[in-house]
Amino acid sequence: MKTLIKNGRIVTAVDDYFGDILIEDEQVSVIGKTLEMEADVIIDASGKLVIPGGIDPHTHMELPFGGTESSDDFFTGTRAAAFGGTTTIIDFAVQNKGESMLKGADTWHAKAEGKAVIDYGFHLITTDFEDQNKPEMFKLIDEGITSFKLFMAYPGVFLSDDATIYRAMSAAGERGGLVCMHAENGIVINEIIKKFLADGRTAPKYHALTRSTIAEAEGVHRAIALAEMAETPVYIVHLSCTDALNQVRQARDRGIPAFAETCPQYLFLSIDDYGDDFEGAKYVMTPPLREKHNHDELWKGLKMDDLQTIATDHCPFCMKDQKELGRDDFSKIPNGAPGVEYRMELIYNGGVVENRISLNRFVELTSTAAAKMFGMFPKKGAIAVGSDADIVIFDTEKEHIFTLEAQHMNVDYCAYEGKTIKGKVETVLSRGRVVIENGECLVDKGSGQFIKRGECVKI
Ligand code: URP
Ligand code: ZN
Ligand code: ZN
Repeated sequence: MKTLIKNGRIVTAVDDYFGDILIEDEQVSVIGKTLEMEADVIIDASGKLVIPGGIDPHTHMELPFGGTESSDDFFTGTRAAAFGGTTTIIDFAVQNKGESMLKGADTWHAKAEGKAVIDYGFHLITTDFEDQNKPEMFKLIDEGITSFKLFMAYPGVFLSDDATIYRAMSAAGERGGLVCMHAENGIVINEIIKKFLADGRTAPKYHALTRSTIAEAEGVHRAIALAEMAETPVYIVHLSCTDALNQVRQARDRGIPAFAETCPQYLFLSIDDYGDDFEGAKYVMTPPLREKHNHDELWKGLKMDDLQTIATDHCPFCMKDQKELGRDDFSKIPNGAPGVEYRMELIYNGGVVENRISLNRFVELTSTAAAKMFGMFPKKGAIAVGSDADIVIFDTEKEHIFTLEAQHMNVDYCAYEGKTIKGKVETVLSRGRVVIENGECLVDKGSGQFIKRGECVKI
């Protein structure tokens, strides 16, 4: 099977030129100014960008949380991702407390198998880690699960103490693995939550007011200090605010390998979106939305490489029956929000159209850097001879509006309802297969593959 993409403007993290791309056997085989080869499928990309498929390194499909489960499974979630130009996700498998790490990975393989329409990898949420767990961790690394998320938040569920974090960092570092940190002082936050609830402050907005930027910055500072002692890199997930970013900046200025991702919600939404009533539950996520003044600093961090990647932390829960669990108590609202479908178009619109980042940096932040950070480059995150033909044809001129009616994520609200966006994903190829064309998903459920990842932090 041969596919030829003609006349596009090919943009990668470093390149920007007009040319044609021949795809054979799932990979890019020839790139040239004008290719005249025969092909089974010819796609005309005149006037369009041709960019590497997006990589979202932070999603939660079918995540059990707060007495319910995130509402996208690996079919609906990866299909929505594909509509938005993402061709690879890294989802978080969970090691439940008291269970083996391998069981957590097996459970997630079973969830994804036969459902995903794009390629996927797993990090492992690690809740127990003693030195005797090292062989299990190394087995996972050999099997392509090379990153591990540990939590300083959610006491009694996911939280690990500093000794556990230090042990996991030291072990992962021995084998090119990477610890991803949920950095927030969850122990103190829990005390603050108790006070608020005792005072009758139960509405969704109090979720944000009980989780200060200081609690996040303290977590980031501690995560970096632990990584420094363990002599390993560290990757901070879902960084939301200037105070936390400043901790990363200071470490990087000292030459410490500290890395971080932010998410579109922290660039486009704010604490004002909670309002005073229960509608604010749509935005109950952790860390919470922050004051608007944080947006500019995060964009600066993205431009100056103090933040390396943009993920979504896609973790949708419907308002009906799910968010409603916390109608009388914000601490019972399942934490998380939908986003996997919107990341590429939001960042193109808010970043490139609004002149905050270059086109090359857009590709780097939404694809290439995650491939390098998490051991998938140059198979993923590139348009180069031998790379997987994960390619998005992007119409920079098309304007559209985000609405619940038009979205594909399996959730009963749109977090950006009514937002006008310039730039639209038109055609999406995953390993050469046309996944999205003319507003339709054309591939079979289960045609996505597990990506066995290599050593992390090849950045
Ligand atoms: O609110 C969030 N972020 N839910 C998903 C779990 C996590 O902490 O990433
Ligand atoms: Zn988290
Ligand atoms: Zn998450």
